[in-house]
Amino acid sequence: VNERGRDVVVIGGGTIGCSVAWELALLGASVTLLERANPAHAATWASAGLLMPVTESRTGGPFLDLAVMSMKLWPDMVARVQDATGMAVDYRPNPVLVVAYTDQQVTELDVRYAWQSKAGYDVEQFTGSAARTLEPALGEVVRAALLDRSAAQVNNRLLGKALLAAAQAAGVRVVAGAPVAEILTEKHGAACGARTSDGLSYSAASIVLAAGAWSGAIAGLPRTVPVEPVRGQMLALATATPPISHLIMAPDCYLAPRVDGQMLVGATHEHTGFECVNTPAGVNSLLAALLYLVPGAADLPIAEIWAGLRPGSPDQMPILGRDPDMMGLFYATGHYRNGILLTPVTARAIADLVAHGACDVDLEPFSIERFSS
Ligand code: GLY
Repeated sequence: VNERGRDVVVIGGGTIGCSVAWELALLGASVTLLERANPAHAATWASAGLLMPVTESRTGGPFLDLAVMSMKLWPDMVARVQDATGMAVDYRPNPVLVVAYTDQQVTELDVRYAWQSKAGYDVEQFTGSAARTLEPALGEVVRAALLDRSAAQVNNRLLGKALLAAAQAAGVRVVAGAPVAEILTEKHGAACGARTSDGLSYSAASIVLAAGAWSGAIAGLPRTVPVEPVRGQMLALATATPPISHLIMAPDCYLAPRVDGQMLVGATHEHTGFECVNTPAGVNSLLAALLYLVPGAADLPIAEIWAGLRPGSPDQMPILGRDPDMMGLFYATGHYRNGILLTPVTARAIADLVAHGACDVDLEPFSIERFSS
């Protein structure tokens, strides 16, 4: 590692913070991770663990390129985290079926199919009845579907715990319950540490901001970090065997069958600040969307209901790379709906950038400078 990479403070203990800290420690850095509450919690714990680079992209471009690159890194990250910790994370390929109900949605699926197949992705179109042959639990409302075979899923809660354990095993010092109040700077303006709300200071030559939805609320940042919480309410049904085997993306909900038999139903998108709660309207909208899509799910037991805060950025793309003005400050935030998917590529790129001053991923499209007027 270079001089800046020797001592690093990582702010945030989700999958992004833990994985960046882990990779940095493996590269020889001395890393302290400051987590405002509990590591491996917040959006890491609340998410659905869906890995769908193609389906999550509206079109080709930098987001898709980054997501596809990350997808390729997943098997290796899973193998390494299992080797380091002995912990399973239930990663498995799991194609996604995107379904349409209305004329407009059918047209949107045609548009998706056109660009995705032209770009060489493994996608296939189905009529509603053919989709029901694949997934008999889907209701008659499904008029058309698009199968994206490139998707996968992981148990995000197991992943969070495993990445935290891997980071600690590699020597990362994790401080929980330590909200960062301020980035500290030297006289000439370079970052030199972080002060937590209890007044303790942690000095470091480099700071990685990976605080998810809370990334903008820290004093001493050289610019506005435009990350806002976007609440997602979710629920899980308990089943012996989930009624579906694919991931399903519907216009108003998604479904994910888990290996443990649960079926996840997500998620709302709400701009309601930091209030991380379930509401009657939110849960009602998920249940209505579920029963519209899978009428036979009406009597399944509800196992759990929860909510999380996505770190949303104005263009829904992550903010990655160095600050152009404050030496030693790096961003790894704003991953919105795809923090789990983008974990391996973020970890590798940011760790290389901090430790070596360069990385082999083009981070230019994700620079915080894109928000400067
Ligand atoms: N990645 C799914 C969601 O954010 O709800």
